[in-house]
Amino acid sequence: MSGIFITMEGPDGSGKSTQIELLKDYLSEKGYDIIVTREPGGTQISEKIRQIILDKENEKMSDMTELMLYVAARAQLVDEVIKPALDKNQVVISDRFVDSSAVYQGIARGLGTKLVYEMNQYAISRMPDITFLLDLDAKEGIKRKKHQAALDRLELEKLSFHEKVVEGYRSLAQEQDRIVLIDATLPKETIFERIISVLQERKIMK
Ligand code: TYD
Repeated sequence: MSGIFITMEGPDGSGKSTQIELLKDYLSEKGYDIIVTREPGGTQISEKIRQIILDKENEKMSDMTELMLYVAARAQLVDEVIKPALDKNQVVISDRFVDSSAVYQGIARGLGTKLVYEMNQYAISRMPDITFLLDLDAKEGIKRKKHQAALDRLELEKLSFHEKVVEGYRSLAQEQDRIVLIDATLPKETIFERIISVLQERKIMK
């Protein structure tokens, strides 16, 4: 196994991109060769799939179609970006990955996490080495997002959907040691310090 694979998860508005930027700068300064990517997207084909998924006009999309589109976008991203980078010993930081599908499609849409992880086996060559979950109550996340530009199809879901997402993430973190939960209401510097210390404690980086 080569390279380091780090994923950042959390509900909409939890501050993932801020932490990814901080981590990228920190690791670059330490001399690591880093690639940052995001899901759904990260390649030309995956970005096209992303547009279909998030299009507000696609109200009729079935839950299974939605899951398969996320998995398709992921398969392309893994083959085109993530796997080659890890093979070259790079550090890959992904804004969302398979756990997003487990929570949004598996738990919030109700398809079941077992089915979601099983389907993803065909798309991903390896699980992340570590996953940070920025934990934030649904109401707070929505409040933060409302200040941003137009909301997409997923963001327009009811509060109960976003509450299931938050609860789903918390239960995944309890079940899997790989997923480290951090309170997203803490100051961003404190969150970042925690991320660095976990990476060191778990000997993922020096
Ligand atoms: P994105 O627009 O990148 O939102 P954010 O900035 O909050 O990360 O993500 C698009 C939406 O797609 C987001 O609401 C979460 C959802 N999503 C899934 O439902 N399943 C998935 O597998 C992934 C990767 C994302």
